[in-house]
Amino acid sequence: MLVLDGKIAAAAVKAELKTQTTALSAAGKPAPHLAAILIGNNGASETYVASKVKNCEETGFRSTLVRFEDSVDEADLLQTICLLNENLDIDGILVQLPLPKHISEQKVIEAIDPRKDVDGFHPSNIGKLVQGLPTFIPATPYGILLLLEFFNIQTKGKHAVVIGRSNIVGRPMSILLSSNLPQGNCTVTLCNSYTTNLTEICQQADIVIAALGKPEFMQPEMIKEGAVVIDVGITRVDDATAKKGFRIKGDVHFESVAPKCSAITPVPGGVGLMTIAGLLKNTMQAYLQNRP
Ligand code: GUN
Repeated sequence: MLVLDGKIAAAAVKAELKTQTTALSAAGKPAPHLAAILIGNNGASETYVASKVKNCEETGFRSTLVRFEDSVDEADLLQTICLLNENLDIDGILVQLPLPKHISEQKVIEAIDPRKDVDGFHPSNIGKLVQGLPTFIPATPYGILLLLEFFNIQTKGKHAVVIGRSNIVGRPMSILLSSNLPQGNCTVTLCNSYTTNLTEICQQADIVIAALGKPEFMQPEMIKEGAVVIDVGITRVDDATAKKGFRIKGDVHFESVAPKCSAITPVPGGVGLMTIAGLLKNTMQAYLQNRP
């Protein structure tokens, strides 16, 4: 059983990006510049955005963090996005989700210039993804493709079962795995919380993408011997014995599932790190496409 170590794969992606930013700097060119908008004080969102900013530094990117209170006016937020769209020195824009209830996620996503939409959430970018056209691939599915590529996991002709149909992970992942890509050409089953025979479907999977957000939901009886299991879960579970008072749990019960797998991602240290690698690659792509 191979542990698909996100730390090693992400380090390889970041080293390549660092080489690119070093060359840009040597040529007297500015570094790619990511703008991240964070609203409120959601602990998990704070951690993710801090990690995005730190990873920008490590790869020679610039980043600007724009923070708002939970009570921010939707109009003020949209105005800020508009200014970032117009700012020629900003290459990529992301608004960390989830948003406070009074703000329309759809309006915010559609306000971002698709050319700077490094999350790949804008409907025009998702449309391109569905049609197999070049675009920004949402960071988590992108990171999973990079992980599969790094560890040379074959996908062609395999049955991939994706559990969870979110716009951020499951749905774009299902489209990518079914596309004619090096890490695609799978037969894909996309499951949701109404799927009645989930265990039977999962038992047929050569590749399982668990992105349902339920800690340790996936148990060994759901997994075929030799399957590849990709765990997208990152739920904080209260644990008084942990230093921070919680532990991060994946959607897969690692200890019991891992022995059945040919390959599996750990949590933490798997997909999460690759998500940031995907975001950085998208930011470099935006830079190369948008700068004259
Ligand atoms: N919240 C959870 N995942 C993501 C992501 O990939 N991008 C943004 N902007 N917010 C998220």
